[in-house]
Order: sequence, then C-alpha cells, then structure tokens
Amino acid sequence: MGQVYKIAVLPGDGIGREVIPEATRLIREAILPTSDLTLEIHEFECGGEYFLRTGLEWSKEAENFTKTKADAILLGGIGARGPDGTTVRRSDGNLAGYSVVIGLRQELELYANVRPVKLYEGVPTPLAEKGPKDIDMVIIRENTEGLYYPARGRVKETDREFAYDLRLITAKGSERVARYAFELARNRMGAPVDKVKRVTCVDKSNLLAGCQLFRESFDKIGGEYTDIAKDYAYVDAWTLLVLRKPEHYDVIVAPNAFGDIISDLGGALQGGLGVAPSSNIGNTHAVFEPVHGSAPDIAGTSKANPIASLLSTAMMFEWIGKKHNDETPIKIARQLRGSIEEVLREGKIRTPDLCVGKWSRVKPSTTKQVTDAIIQKMAR
Ligand code: IPM
Ligand code: MG
Repeated sequence: MGQVYKIAVLPGDGIGREVIPEATRLIREAILPTSDLTLEIHEFECGGEYFLRTGLEWSKEAENFTKTKADAILLGGIGARGPDGTTVRRSDGNLAGYSVVIGLRQELELYANVRPVKLYEGVPTPLAEKGPKDIDMVIIRENTEGLYYPARGRVKETDREFAYDLRLITAKGSERVARYAFELARNRMGAPVDKVKRVTCVDKSNLLAGCQLFRESFDKIGGEYTDIAKDYAYVDAWTLLVLRKPEHYDVIVAPNAFGDIISDLGGALQGGLGVAPSSNIGNTHAVFEPVHGSAPDIAGTSKANPIASLLSTAMMFEWIGKKHNDETPIKIARQLRGSIEEVLREGKIRTPDLCVGKWSRVKPSTTKQVTDAIIQKMAR
C-alpha cells in the first residue's frame, strides 16, 4: 500500500456546496474502489454562509487541519449574500471567507495561480472562427502580492475621503512565479500556432514601477531558459491580441490583479467558467479550486457545471503524484481528464451553460447527471 493522502475539502459557499460534493462523490464512487490509492477526505464548512451563522470564517479545527495536516486542499467558492442581498463582510470590510480564499494563498505562499485555458472538443467558444486546435494556453497569475497585498484601507478626513490599495511587487515574488512559468513551458508542447515553447509576460510596464520590476525579473529568469521564447504584451493590448490570435499563446505570466482579470477572459474563451479549473501552487502546499467562485445567482438550481471542479480535482491528483513520485495519482488524473473529455466530446450530457451555439438544442442536464456520466466513463 502506498502513502495515505489527506485531503482538506472546503466546499465554501453557493455552488461550491454543490460542485465540490460531486468531486468527492466521484472520488468515493469511481476512484477509491478501483485503485490502490489510499486517501482520506476531511470536509469542513467555511466561508460567508458559515460566517453568517457562527461569526467565524471557519472553525479552528478546519483551519489547523488545512494548514498543517492536509496533503492537498480542494476549495469550492467563497462569497455569500446576506439577508439584505449584499456580500457578507467581516468587520474590517473584507469579504467573509477572505481568510480561506486569499489568506491561504498568502500564508501558505501559494505563489503560482495556474489557470489552464484549454478549449475541449464539444465546448462552444465565443470566438466564431476558432476551435480546440487554437486555444490551449495556461495563465500563471502571481498569487501572493501585487494589488492583493494586504495593505488597504479607507480614510475619512474633514474635507476629503479616500481609499487605498497598496500594490507591492517584490523581486522574489516576481522571480519565483516567472520560474514556475518557464518550467511549465518546458514541459508543454508549445503554442498551437507554431509549436514554439513561449512565455508571454503580460504587464503594464510602460507605466507602473511594479510592472517594470516584474518584467525585469521575467527577463532575468528567462535568461536561464534559452530554449524558450520570451514574449511581451501590455495587459490592455493583450486582451485584444488574445481574441484575435489565441493560437499564439502557450504560457502567460502576469501580476496578481491583472492575472485575475485576464483569467476570466480566458475562461470565456474556453467555454465559460463552468469548465475553468485552477490550482494555487507553493513549494509545499497547494489549493485546487474552480475559477468560478460561489455564483449565488444559480445556487440551488442544479444548473452548476461540476466540470471545473472535476478538472481541478484532476490537477490535484497530478500534483500529488508528481510531488510524491507516485504513478497512481498521475494515472487517475489522466483517466479523469479523459472521461471528462469524452463526455464533452459526445455533447449529449451537459449543464445549461454549455447548451449554446451548435449545442443549443441539447436538453440541459443537472449537475448530478453530468457527474454520473463522467463516473460511468471512469468505470470502463
Ligand atoms: C479568483 C476570485 C477571487 C480573487 C475572489 C473571490 C476574491 O476572483 O479566484 O479569481 O479575486 O482572486
Ligand atoms: Mg477572479
């Protein structure tokens, strides 16, 4: 028997409480009975809804297990609406659940937020002339500093009122995320258009000092990777360039807030946030989460697409396998991704977000029905 992997499972709020249980169900029904993987699932409540009930973002036990005992962390979405319809906040003004979603990234130094933008067969993209052969890139978002550096506030004086968010960018933070991007590029097949392994630095270095340091760090680290092409774009221009020619991009690296924004754009290109997975990677810990968040507008309707969470789960198995030099989780990741790809390609069982374009006449399935279809593929 191999090692026992302990997974902290944090469904969080809204649809997180619908899609993450689907991921654990798939693990219990389709993975554990058929492999020699030993894995413990430790599930905890957390987030804005929990905060509304208890005044806490998570229990001490949940926090302690997640930070010190878990081999990997699977997170749903954070963000709840209170009785008045507005976002639930802590007394300091931060989102209730901030300690979980942003706190973990910062405290565990999960410096690389990895957001693959891959268009699968059978998934509609809004780009009329592009298809799966054109869209296959990974956005690496710096995940611990930048505009998310926790120095912000509001000041009210007699004659003026202002708010500030300090954007701190360090050489260390920029270099380590650049290195992650170059290493990733080395292990990929290159950009769809020309098969050139390429890392694009997306920033605003024509104006901002932090971005100048970010780009200098990119160049410094890039100098060690002579086999990989270096490419540059200002973030505003990049949003235009990627819509015109997504096939040019292989790996993209960007400072925190820009990475947040462009990864939603990436989500749209790959068929929507319903199929956009992500991981937050540090040297020792990692959090895996769908990009979509808690989506309170569709919570409780069975419309949530479980695929973003299931693809994030596949990323988790792959990371565990590589970290522990264990073939079993790597093989599981491959099988899971393959099963998801098959269900998408067949085009018959899908949540409403994917019943558009060529698939607009498909009768929408529920969250559970999509997972069931994937579990059936896993069984073969
Ligand atoms: C994301 C989300 C979060 C972020 C929110 C929920 C705080 O948008 O993971 O992209 O801004 O990072
Ligand atoms: Mg975001």
